[in-house]
Amino acid sequence: MRTIIRNGTVVTAVDQYKGDVLIEDERIALIGSSLADIQSDAVIDAAGKYVLPGGIDVHTHLDMPFGGTTSADDFESGTTAAAFGGTTSIVDFAIQYKGQTLHHAWETWLKKAEGKAVIDYGFHMIMTDLNDQTEQEMDALVRQGVTSFKLFMAYRGVFMLDDGSIFKALLRTGKNGGTICMHAENGDVIDVLVQRALAAGKTAPKYHALTRPARAEAEATHRAIALAEMADVPVYIVHLSAAEALEMVTEARDRGLPAYAETCPQYLFLSYDNYEEQDDHGFGGAKYVMSPPLRDKATQAQLWRGLAFNDLQCISTDHCPFCMKEQKELGRGDFSKIPNGAPGIETRMSLVYDGGVRAGRISLNRFVELTSTSPAKIFGLFPRKGTIAPGSDADIVVFDPNRTVTLSAKTLHMKVDYNPYEGRQVTGAADTVISRGRVIIKEGKFVGKPGSGEFLKRAIRS
Ligand code: URP
Ligand code: ZN
Ligand code: ZN
Repeated sequence: MRTIIRNGTVVTAVDQYKGDVLIEDERIALIGSSLADIQSDAVIDAAGKYVLPGGIDVHTHLDMPFGGTTSADDFESGTTAAAFGGTTSIVDFAIQYKGQTLHHAWETWLKKAEGKAVIDYGFHMIMTDLNDQTEQEMDALVRQGVTSFKLFMAYRGVFMLDDGSIFKALLRTGKNGGTICMHAENGDVIDVLVQRALAAGKTAPKYHALTRPARAEAEATHRAIALAEMADVPVYIVHLSAAEALEMVTEARDRGLPAYAETCPQYLFLSYDNYEEQDDHGFGGAKYVMSPPLRDKATQAQLWRGLAFNDLQCISTDHCPFCMKEQKELGRGDFSKIPNGAPGIETRMSLVYDGGVRAGRISLNRFVELTSTSPAKIFGLFPRKGTIAPGSDADIVVFDPNRTVTLSAKTLHMKVDYNPYEGRQVTGAADTVISRGRVIIKEGKFVGKPGSGEFLKRAIRS
């Protein structure tokens, strides 16, 4: 099967030029200034549009049990929504619960995805129980392409690991080439603040944010980097939200340390003020209950600066949707019982293009780098994914920079009953989306197939 994308502007992390792209079966075969003479089975006209490498979202939680319920999108609805938004690969999180092997967790999450995913997927492994056996299992998983591990410095009794275990896991990645991803919040301090707030009758959603101070994120970020420095390995801070935490990453990078971090659209476009929304008798703020929480508005400019100057290398979503009805509602009267997380897998590319490129905060190349190339490089998918080049997978988005859409739960495809950006207009949207050579989004319709997404065996750090 041969498809030619004609007349578009090809954009990668480093290039921007008018060109045609020939896809042969699953891969990009040829790029040229005009491929009009080449015979093909299908032609896609991309005149006036960008031809981008498919988005890569390295932080999603599909079909994940958490907070007494399960995230609302499974691998079919979640990856379909991702595709609508221009994302063609995800790296989701498998969870090792206490007493379980890593292998069991991996098999469990493979089953959740098989037959459902419409785009390619890899896994990070959340480790909650580190012992001699699981340490050895880390090596086996890395060989099988699960090359990154998420550890938590918060949620004591559920996910949290002590510093000794974190240090051991970091040391192990020094040997096996894996990467540690860190949820950096000081969980014990937060637990004290939460108990005190509840005892004082402070139960509304906004107290979720008020009991998770920016300094608790900064302290844990500093500690994570210090532990990684002592272990002499890289570390990747997930969902960084606070300027104080960014300062820790910047300081480390200025010293030449391999400290990496991602932020997410919610921290760039939403703020603490959202918790003060008074709809639903003051419970409306539950829509934004996630960890770390939204910060003050001034933080947004500092995060954009971090993205522009490469102190932050990726924008992922931390897509972890819970409906207001029956899910967020679990925390009515007690903010600590509101399931943590929010939807975002479908809106990332448009939000970042609109608020980043169109608003003049980042270049078009940097947009591609943050949403596709850099995640691919850090997580062992490059150059198979993350760029447009001969030999790379034909994961391509024909992106219309001039189409304006209004974000709304009613028209988006995530299986959740609200959207944090409800009513927001964004300009720039995916038109045609191609996953390994197959068109899966065409003229606003899903034309892919559940189960056509494949497990991504990722490479170790180079
Ligand atoms: O609130 C969040 N972020 N929920 C998802 C789990 C996590 O910590 O990433
Ligand atoms: Zn986390
Ligand atoms: Zn997460």
